[in-house]
Amino acid sequence: MTSRRLPHELEKMRRAGRIVAQTLRHLSQMVAPGVTTLDLDKEAESFIRAAGGVPSFLGYRGYPGTVCASVNDEIVHGIPGQRVLAEGDIISIDVGAIWEGYQGDAALTVGVGCVSGAAQRLMDATRSALYAGIAAVHDGVRLGDVSHAIEQSARASGLEIVREYGGHGIGREMHEGPHILNWGPPGGGIKLRQGMTICLEPMLTLGGFETRLTGNRWTVVTADGSLAAHFEHTIAVTMDGAEILTLDDETGWEAMG
Ligand code: MF3
Ligand code: CO
Repeated sequence: MTSRRLPHELEKMRRAGRIVAQTLRHLSQMVAPGVTTLDLDKEAESFIRAAGGVPSFLGYRGYPGTVCASVNDEIVHGIPGQRVLAEGDIISIDVGAIWEGYQGDAALTVGVGCVSGAAQRLMDATRSALYAGIAAVHDGVRLGDVSHAIEQSARASGLEIVREYGGHGIGREMHEGPHILNWGPPGGGIKLRQGMTICLEPMLTLGGFETRLTGNRWTVVTADGSLAAHFEHTIAVTMDGAEILTLDDETGWEAMG
């Protein structure tokens, strides 16, 4: 279970989060037809290291990349490789970095060139669901209320929510308890307390919610081949709300695509 961070720990998580946000901004600006997902991965590793961070995904349970690059029907954990991005694709980029032992983790989904109206609505709805979850957070809130807020937002958009994957506590480890569902009834679950640090990460699809693990044992795709989007922030619970830690302070830019 994630614990309440002390001020000096939160400061390190802000630094890790800033590196993650800056990396995501840099990679989003690189996304274009003709770029491979491996190009993005290589750039991410040098960018994180140049900023003084350590890539957290690389080697995590044997994961081979610095980022997850999940294209179109890939929901999460797309392994970077020779795949060439094409006009109209959508790509979720998920980045993690460590600063002095503390973790940051965020993801966004962006279009490659011009995308369909449906793809744009999917990305917008997924980002809105993340922000609905963040808006529900404050000291004393029950985890179920946060999950329910994410679900309500997604339902309002008429899109399906992936059920088997969700958010998590984060701190010195990338994945700490609790597991945070993107759906469920309000009123139950543990109470979040000021200083706890968590990741919220809704995944929505244009089709069904069923998923399939591909042959590489990492990449999760929609069972029906429909498009999926994924947005994630690392946040700290405050007395009256939440502080987004995966922010680039210098530009005010955040992982919004
Ligand atoms: N951000 C991802 C998550 O929270 C972590 C990617 S897992 C890794 O699920 F293996 F790629 F590191
Ligand atoms: Co995460």
